[in-house]
Amino acid sequence: MLVKTGLIPAAGSGTRLGPFTNAIPKELLPVGEKAVIEHVVCAMTLAGIEHIVIVVSPSKHGLSDYFGSGKKLGVNISYVVQDERKGLADAVLAGEHIINDTFTVVLGDNFFAPKTFLKDLIDFHTGSSADTTVGVSEVEDVTRHGIINPDGQRILDMVEKPSPEDAKSHLGALGAYVFTPDIFDAIRKTKPGYKGELQLTDSIMTQILEGKNVFYKKIDGIHIDVGTPKDLMRANEWYLEHRNGDI
Ligand code: UTP
Repeated sequence: MLVKTGLIPAAGSGTRLGPFTNAIPKELLPVGEKAVIEHVVCAMTLAGIEHIVIVVSPSKHGLSDYFGSGKKLGVNISYVVQDERKGLADAVLAGEHIINDTFTVVLGDNFFAPKTFLKDLIDFHTGSSADTTVGVSEVEDVTRHGIINPDGQRILDMVEKPSPEDAKSHLGALGAYVFTPDIFDAIRKTKPGYKGELQLTDSIMTQILEGKNVFYKKIDGIHIDVGTPKDLMRANEWYLEHRNGDI
């Protein structure tokens, strides 16, 4: 089975990167000579994705100005609107009306290298019996991630941003997933959780409780969640130092 569709949530407010984000969507801030979200788009095309759905907020117009139809990057890009910032799960649900097959989700403000990480994640998913695959890695700060409780390749449970005492491991979700359309049903059953938002972690937990195969795959390499000015600097420092390498 080939995975041809990708969804990129980019409808957040980016308050931690203000005041830049008063004028520019966070996802368009540069890492090297590309917007951070363009690195995600490139990873998707490298993984064989042919159609990308970018989720924007009603006031975020810059993204379609930047990418247009996607033709220049060799991919077909559509835009869907998340009417209100209600959380990541709600952003994914915004793509339901145009997604009817297995698809990948990568956050639009996350920088990964090497870009083959996504092909590896999708290959793992298609070679397994997973309904959902969550990309994870060892994280220092469990309070910034959805933390899994692993058993073999399976996720037994998953908690969004637990306290260090409550974390069942140091394996944290990195913002890259593969889902079947079953996730949309799980999202509809999801109640507001951490910070009153619809958390994707809680929707995945619903799938686990319903007996779905929810697996994880470790992602090697660099991952920087470009959420704060410090993260933006760190991503650029890393990129400028390694730009001639295999990134
Ligand atoms: P963040 O958790 O960093 O939220 O979103 P944010 O609103 O962008 O930033 P802050 O917290 O105000 O500084 C992670 C990714 O998920 C998207 C964001 O656009 C970002 O790419 N997102 C988040 C949505 O698309 N919709 C949401 O409701 C929440």
